[in-house]
Amino acid sequence: MTAGMVAQKGLFGYAAHARRDPFAALFVHDRRDPYPLYERLRAQGALPRSVLGVRYTTSHELSSQVLASRAFGPTAESADVSALEGDLDLSLLQLNPPDHTRLRRIVTPAFGRARMAGYRERIETTVDRLLDDVRPGEPWDLVAGLGAPLPIAVITDLLGIPAYDEPTFLRFGEAIAGALDGVRSPRHAADLVRASRRLEAVFTRLVAQREAEPGDDVVSALVAARDDGRAAPEDLVPLCNLLLLAGFETTVNLIGSAVQHLLAHPQQWRRLVEDPSLAEGAVEETLRFASPVQLTGRFALRDTQVGGVDVPAGQGVVPILAAANRDPDVFDRPGEFDILRPNASEHIAFSAGAHYCLGAPLARLEGVIALAALARRFPDLRPAGHAVPRRGVTIRGPERLPVVAGPR
Ligand code: HEM
Repeated sequence: MTAGMVAQKGLFGYAAHARRDPFAALFVHDRRDPYPLYERLRAQGALPRSVLGVRYTTSHELSSQVLASRAFGPTAESADVSALEGDLDLSLLQLNPPDHTRLRRIVTPAFGRARMAGYRERIETTVDRLLDDVRPGEPWDLVAGLGAPLPIAVITDLLGIPAYDEPTFLRFGEAIAGALDGVRSPRHAADLVRASRRLEAVFTRLVAQREAEPGDDVVSALVAARDDGRAAPEDLVPLCNLLLLAGFETTVNLIGSAVQHLLAHPQQWRRLVEDPSLAEGAVEETLRFASPVQLTGRFALRDTQVGGVDVPAGQGVVPILAAANRDPDVFDRPGEFDILRPNASEHIAFSAGAHYCLGAPLARLEGVIALAALARRFPDLRPAGHAVPRRGVTIRGPERLPVVAGPR
């Protein structure tokens, strides 16, 4: 559940309200820096109400409270979810208990500690292979060359998709991630339907393969769960879709934003070059400073209270994760990028509560390995032009990031 919950009004609706309502203004500020707007929202206090009908939180405390509270869920008991999300079934992300608890239990082992150790080597090999293609002195796009192909390789591996076509998956991802902000145009709607159908075909084939030949992968675990009644047949494809998209649409932005901000702060890049073990701090600080998922959504499942404000059942609330991650009550100098920040990992970039990101250990591992390898292999990496931010409000990061390594 995302900004799609308020996106039904469409861009014109936002534009009409944007002057007097800073929350609505977020949705017409496409590609611009949203952080000054978040500060305007923060100045409004605990749980302001937008003319779009939703309430929102900018503080770390209240955002965490809404996310962790059983009085809230990603879907209103009475809502028609498909209408809110442009017909996109995002499985776990949209489910309340008990369905959420049941399905989450099935996929959790794929992200356990033992599994992460196994993925490490695969990630290192992939990063090395991708960086072998970099030519000294020639500008390259860090997103196309590393940020996007790395998470795609990892998640297709995790799902056991043997051969895949990277540009096609990238296009699917773009269409579907764009839908998190609401469908922009008839063309976008058509792209979305096409992407969903193609993905459905990929996963239907994959499920059939695993039925015939079960393996040690997450899809085989889903097939087994369906066969012993823990999952319904119709649960499988949406869950695979979610894993694929959550696995790369977010991590690509973590890697892109980390490099963007490190290179914009050359002393911090130098620190990382001198001590690549600082990659962990750089990843946490990027998650805090430039949160790849900027906001999410919840509905009150019963009458409740947040920050002293009465919230009736059915009310939509948008925790703005990116604003919470710059809350001055938790983070000193919140607007400064500092990879040595001692409490950076107190961010809520991976959400909190029952829907806390399942892939967080994997995303961290990919980010740390990618940054440490870049710092070791290309100590003089530098920008080779302006970063182009991606469109949209929910997911943030560079769409293109031109860089160059080697002699000046
Ligand atoms: C930097 C990278 C990532 C970020 C910032 C991120 C962020 C998030 C956030 C904020 C949520 C919860 C949304 C909510 O509470 O409404 C979430 C859920 C989820 N994420 Fe991630 N994610 C990342 C990487 C990944 C990866 C690599 C995977 C899988 C391979 C993944 C799989 C999931 C899944 C399955 C959920 C749903 C959990 C549930 O609803 O119970 N994520 N992620």
